[in-house]
Amino acid sequence: MIAGGDPALVATGASHAKAILIGEHAVVYGMPALVVPMVGLRVTAKVASGFPQDVLRCAFYRGPLSAVPPELQGLAALVGEGRMRSAVGAAGILITIESDIPVGYGLGSSAAAAAAVARALYRFQGVDLPQSELLRLVNISEKHAHGTPSGIDARAVTMNSPLWFIKDQAIEPVKLGRGIFVIVATSASPGNTGEAVKLVRKKIGGYSQADPIQELGRLAHEARAMLGQGNVSSLGEVLVAAHEQLARLGVSTPHLDDLVQAALRAGALGAKLTGGGLGGAMLALTSSPEGQKSVVEALQAAGAGQVWSVELKGEH
Ligand code: PMV
Repeated sequence: MIAGGDPALVATGASHAKAILIGEHAVVYGMPALVVPMVGLRVTAKVASGFPQDVLRCAFYRGPLSAVPPELQGLAALVGEGRMRSAVGAAGILITIESDIPVGYGLGSSAAAAAAVARALYRFQGVDLPQSELLRLVNISEKHAHGTPSGIDARAVTMNSPLWFIKDQAIEPVKLGRGIFVIVATSASPGNTGEAVKLVRKKIGGYSQADPIQELGRLAHEARAMLGQGNVSSLGEVLVAAHEQLARLGVSTPHLDDLVQAALRAGALGAKLTGGGLGGAMLALTSSPEGQKSVVEALQAAGAGQVWSVELKGEH
């Protein structure tokens, strides 16, 4: 699109946050996970032509793409990979990223930013971006950010329905027997997924058949069945059991535990940490807007940083 009088070519792309409902950490060892889109928490990217060199502007950095700090090198690698030098605007582009997703809270901020940039870049170049190519590009960026990611974030931020995910295998949209509200709250400090994954590996001695991993896998299967049946109270219990397993693996924190307890006291059907842990975020489940309101208030009173809700609609 060339705006009137403006010679710059501009294209935009967007993506959204995600929250892992159940299965974090165990997913690294081949167990299933359920992940939900947080469509209200968005990131947008804009690519514009007419610059002498490639430049990036985001909340953490403004400058040449060739000199980004380490935490943005994945994104720079993605752009390097997705950039077609013969394309229009080949001289230099400005990439601007605006994100509502807090960084480091297990909500998929890096994958969502990567997806938004990839979409904007391909639109800018007038080239179709098939889902498989989008995933490949996002995973290039994610490898820099997380080492050996399971790929769950890349999947989750590029799709709009709850997903059943098994590393390198299945990826299926999940049907809900009835609507639920998922409330996500940030704890006092960001998480540290890389450290948490290492900690879990140490705790289980790298043994994928270890009890907590197997138990988390079993709970994920149960959660999927409960979701399908619309059995939200049993689903809530499954989430609480998953939190206990994650705490046993050492990735919860006192504040995450407090927030989980505060949500349950306020009537949440279930609550657990979400994402890598060691800080980061938690989520809670309710089945009504009134329940959602009480839980949001309780989480705020218990010192949550930011709180969001998403309504996932049932099929019936
Ligand atoms: O990126 P986070 O914090 O949502 O955590 C990802 C989930 C883990 O299972 C802990 C790691 C992974 O790569 O799947």
